[in-house]
Amino acid sequence: NKYYYQEKYRPQFHFTPETNWMNDPNGLVYYEGEYHLFYQFHPHGSTWGPMHWGHAISKDLVSWEHLPIALFPDHNGYIFSGSAVIDWNDTSGFFNGGSGIVAIFTHADTYPDSDRPRQRQSLAYSADSGRSWTTYEGNPVLTDEGITDFRDPKVFWHEPSGKWIMILAAGNCVRMYFSSNLKEWTFASVFGHEAGSHAGVWECPDLFELPVDEDPDKTKWVMIVSIGNAEEYAEGSRTQYFIGHFDGIQFINENDSATTLWLDHGRDNYAGVTWSDIPKEDGRRVFIGWMSNWKYANQTPTEVWRSAMTIPRVLALRSMPEGTRLVQTPVSDLETLRLEKLEWSDLTLTPNNNILSDISGKKFEMIAKFELDSAAEFGFKVLKSEGQETVIGYDTAAQTLFIDRTRSGAADFCGHFPCKHAAALLPIHNRIKMHIFVDWSSVEVFGNDGILAMTDQIFPDHSSTGLEVYAKEGSVKLVSLMMFPLQPIYSA
Ligand code: FRU
Repeated sequence: NKYYYQEKYRPQFHFTPETNWMNDPNGLVYYEGEYHLFYQFHPHGSTWGPMHWGHAISKDLVSWEHLPIALFPDHNGYIFSGSAVIDWNDTSGFFNGGSGIVAIFTHADTYPDSDRPRQRQSLAYSADSGRSWTTYEGNPVLTDEGITDFRDPKVFWHEPSGKWIMILAAGNCVRMYFSSNLKEWTFASVFGHEAGSHAGVWECPDLFELPVDEDPDKTKWVMIVSIGNAEEYAEGSRTQYFIGHFDGIQFINENDSATTLWLDHGRDNYAGVTWSDIPKEDGRRVFIGWMSNWKYANQTPTEVWRSAMTIPRVLALRSMPEGTRLVQTPVSDLETLRLEKLEWSDLTLTPNNNILSDISGKKFEMIAKFELDSAAEFGFKVLKSEGQETVIGYDTAAQTLFIDRTRSGAADFCGHFPCKHAAALLPIHNRIKMHIFVDWSSVEVFGNDGILAMTDQIFPDHSSTGLEVYAKEGSVKLVSLMMFPLQPIYSA
């Protein structure tokens, strides 16, 4: 029984739970033709509560099939975030010499006789492609050693050392462990006390190797670390990354400790991690994030469900004058959602002359190339109506790309929600490129082929469908613009 979601604000091409609360993506793993997406799920309410692992699968990262809840709270506690791997060689002994999926997650409860939080790492496994799960009777497999925030294990197979590596968040840093069987873990190293942002507790790490500039002989390691909500920062929850080297024991950051690199400069891309076990022939490193922010995640004005995932993005490393940087591009599979192609090119945009005044849309993709001229600012106003608009613009003097959602629609559920925020983006050969995805309640912007990403939720009225391409105080050349109205995905 396939149908399209119709509720107000319901994303049309982003993954959402059918009902109730969702936060982090968990257990991202590819196995036998299926991308598995597990997620932090509260099946009995639309705010955060006792955590389960919800479950969905996809063959193309675009349309998703909902499956029954995979992991339920048990005598060891709630099921917090974690990862999943394919144990190809049955190192765990769970699969009678075959292979299967092993989930490595945090069991969260409290110490006996106290209400102090306790977080320990546990295993569950499935020999039938994730359809049924057994929790390991030896749980937990790694205890907290007295560290209060000790969670979100990401496990991967490290070929050179022939070992499983676990990286997990431990207070304001990450800790790494290794294992030969997923059940016994040995401490390897700590990273982060003196690196990056500590604006909040560290959460949901990931660690993987990527070629630089698509050269397979030149690789570096990327560590992703989300930082939780800290009261004193308007930005709330954000995700940073580090670039460096990993030898199976230790991660060496190639940047100095003062350098903080943000994976996304918007407000709604948190706790994102990447899929494991995507076949080598494919070679993509695909990332998905939770499109919300702990500042207001429990207050967003949706009813039946709460929260969506970002679109899946391919991560790559590019050499830039300032160093090696992460770039992200939407997975190409999303192109299957394109309904038609509208095109414009070689136009000079001037103030008060909206060439898109007869175009409307609520879910679409745009790829635009601008050549800078006298305009102080230019860009798009999307999901417009009388009194509502979301601005995706470029400030020529400041050399920043920004999103302004102060007038985007419902915004009074949290004082931090209505905002304009900007991030540096330098023109290349005097040009700025924007690749934009607009859905019923989000905008995702990729600047200059993904060197900058900005993801924001918005809650416009259903009738806000207007579109404008604008230039302010001068002119700008629209070298080319492609617009693709997008088809919704089934909620199956
Ligand atoms: C991140 C997080 C994780 C934790 C989970 C609980 O958003 O706080 O650190 O495992 O959510 O739902």
